[in-house]
Amino acid sequence: MSENIKIAVVGSGYVGLVAAVCFAEMGHDVICVDNDERKVAALQGGDSLIHEDSLPELLEKYRNTKVRFMTDLAEATRECEAIFIAVGTPQSEAGDADLSYVEAVACEIARSITSYKVIVEKSTVPVYTNEWVTRSMERNGVARQLFDVVSNPEFLREGTAVSDFLHPDRIVVGADSERAAAVLRRIYLPLTSGDYYERSGSIAGSCNVADPPPLLLTSTKSAEIIKHASNAFLALKISFINAVSNLCEATDANVEQVARGMGLDSRIGPKFLRPGIGYGGSCFPKDVAAFRSVAEQLGIDFNLLTEVEKINGQQKKRFLNKVRSALWTLRGKRIGVLGLAFKGETDDIRESPAIDVVEMLLAEGCSIAAYDPAAIARTQEVLPAASNLRYVTDAYAAAEDADALLILTDWAEFSNLDIDRLNQALRYPIVIDGRNLYDPDTMVKHGFTYLSIGRPAAYPVRDLTAPSAS
Ligand code: UGA
Repeated sequence: MSENIKIAVVGSGYVGLVAAVCFAEMGHDVICVDNDERKVAALQGGDSLIHEDSLPELLEKYRNTKVRFMTDLAEATRECEAIFIAVGTPQSEAGDADLSYVEAVACEIARSITSYKVIVEKSTVPVYTNEWVTRSMERNGVARQLFDVVSNPEFLREGTAVSDFLHPDRIVVGADSERAAAVLRRIYLPLTSGDYYERSGSIAGSCNVADPPPLLLTSTKSAEIIKHASNAFLALKISFINAVSNLCEATDANVEQVARGMGLDSRIGPKFLRPGIGYGGSCFPKDVAAFRSVAEQLGIDFNLLTEVEKINGQQKKRFLNKVRSALWTLRGKRIGVLGLAFKGETDDIRESPAIDVVEMLLAEGCSIAAYDPAAIARTQEVLPAASNLRYVTDAYAAAEDADALLILTDWAEFSNLDIDRLNQALRYPIVIDGRNLYDPDTMVKHGFTYLSIGRPAAYPVRDLTAPSAS
């Protein structure tokens, strides 16, 4: 039988906000704490701040009732049984995670504790963070029996965050005491028992009452490592297929066929084998660097991760060379750009390879007309419109009179464009696709020169841009 638990979530960023509304959706009472008063006011007023499926609906359903937003961590600590720390852990100069926000939260919790609390690391943190949080609580005078620190990493993806949270592949709980593990088991019971999936109006996804998510109980250190190792492994898969795509380009093989052939092996699996212009976002680049840094500090040779990063960086440069191979010189060329976000279905541009490519093209003297369904406002904050950079309102406007059109983000919208209309809008019918959204044969049939990743370049008959055979 599921019960209603009082939960505090500290930090209302991606992970914190999604966790807060999803815990409410599971039936719990949540206080979401943030020290940014403007953010708190916006959330209280119903502005979800990020572009995420189902989030506005859940926020509307629970805000100021089952999810209260406030700045007062002391009050939240007093009221709640479990306190999830979901503050940022940005990358420091040296590549490791900056844990000063986590430490500050731990110290503030320490000042307000009067009864037993479970403090849960939800942010992605390196191994040993748990011990440091414990130590800072003790240094601030909290008796050891008044708290436990648990690691409960989150595996949600941006764009599908709510359904990933409520339909996880697994729930990892790293707890070194049975008392703390029991609290986390109670919190996740609506999911692990399958109860949640039977409720009317529950958010749909891959789990159901017959197939609820497993809860894996581990040591705290193992849980911390599971999170970093999972992200690093996914990044490795992407770099691996990107390196394979380069090999395919050199041999006129087709990486889509190769990835399919590999992915049908159930030990490898088909996911995260999509080649492109490299991974980005707020997680993979930061987490691979942090994991590498942890290994270094522990004297472990994990150079594999350095290679993963190296391949990822090279992928953008290779893409620029591909543009050059189609356009010859770049100075003064007009380029249409589709996609600015680090991946489709999000407005997030953090570490976006698309933005890196745009910056490289501007540095080469190109002028750009860029379109993204959701990320233009955020991009303008870092790359304001200028004489050589225009933001336009749809894909066809980006193509208008351009020497070539580049696809940099895998928005679903970009896979369904009217390609004849694009062809007419472009000055030259050249598409350079960094996300392999189109079939080369179809593009050629519609008169395009079409370059993509790890697949043979496709030139229409009599295209003057094709290299001559002589
Ligand atoms: C990633 C992980 O997938 C989540 O499990 C994890 O919880 C999250 O980081 C985190 O640590 O918070 P996310 O950053 O939202 O989630 O994005 P992904 O969907 O994993 O994509 C990351 C990058 O890899 C994107 O730039 C995407 O375009 C790229 N990618 C992904 C590829 O280039 N190829 C692929 O096959 C898959």
